[in-house]
Amino acid sequence: MFLQVEGLRKSYTSGEVTTEVLKGVGMELAHGELGVILGPSGSGKSTLLNIIGGIDRGDEGKVTVGGVDISGLSDSQLTDYRRERIGFIFQFYNLIPTLTVGENIEVVAQISQSPLGIDQVLKAVGMLDKKRRFPKELSGGEQQRVSIARAVVKNPALLLCDEPTGALDYSTARDILQLLEHIHKDYGTTILMITHNAAISAMANKVYRVRSGEIVETRINDTVLPAERMEW
Ligand SMILES: Nc1ncnc2c1ncn2[C@@H]1O[C@H](COP(=O)(O)OP(=O)(O)OP(=O)(O)O)[C@@H](O)[C@H]1O
Ligand SMILES: [Mg+2]
Repeated sequence: MFLQVEGLRKSYTSGEVTTEVLKGVGMELAHGELGVILGPSGSGKSTLLNIIGGIDRGDEGKVTVGGVDISGLSDSQLTDYRRERIGFIFQFYNLIPTLTVGENIEVVAQISQSPLGIDQVLKAVGMLDKKRRFPKELSGGEQQRVSIARAVVKNPALLLCDEPTGALDYSTARDILQLLEHIHKDYGTTILMITHNAAISAMANKVYRVRSGEIVETRINDTVLPAERMEW
């Protein structure tokens, strides 16, 4: 398995109150699969994704990505792991406002080991003609396209998406999901995506339903629905 999570536990303590956010989570994805994590607000989805992406650390358990047990990495090794292997897409696009579209992609390409071409990824997300624009001159959907290009340019082994369509209207959300589907097919990228929206899980190979820090259901879709045919 390309991604393997076993017995993952995580608690946060503030003052005298300790909250158990992940209570022994297990999941796995094969190389090139698209997985969806589904669950209500506060169930621990982002915490799980952030630990897999090396932004946060678990308290107990094991997370293996491409044969590397990331729970055993030092802080600087974890930074390298994040930089070299992981692409992140968030609900709010986190583009650098003072840089153009092209420059936002370029800063990531520059620190990557085997980046794709900047124009190639801008073309793939349909934003090549807006390369010299600034983020504030773009719509939300366009900014999300740029943030997808920024995550994809490093040619990541694993693309992690935290509610990538959460801030978008219905038809823009479908466009973005179709774009992720193309990236998944064209580049063979393994993708793990969080959503609130059960309808979106139809495009995934595997669906993990999370409730209160536990995986309560694992589903394997034998047939995957193209994003353009999904409705909600
Ligand atoms: N840094 C932190 N310190 C304290 N508590 C935290 C921290 N991060 C998350 N939590 C708590 O952990 C729980 C799970 O949070 P998480 O962000 O993983 O949920 P989520 O499933 O992604 O929710 P949403 O759908 O609203 O984004 C929440 O109760 C949250 O308050
Ligand atoms: Mg979240």
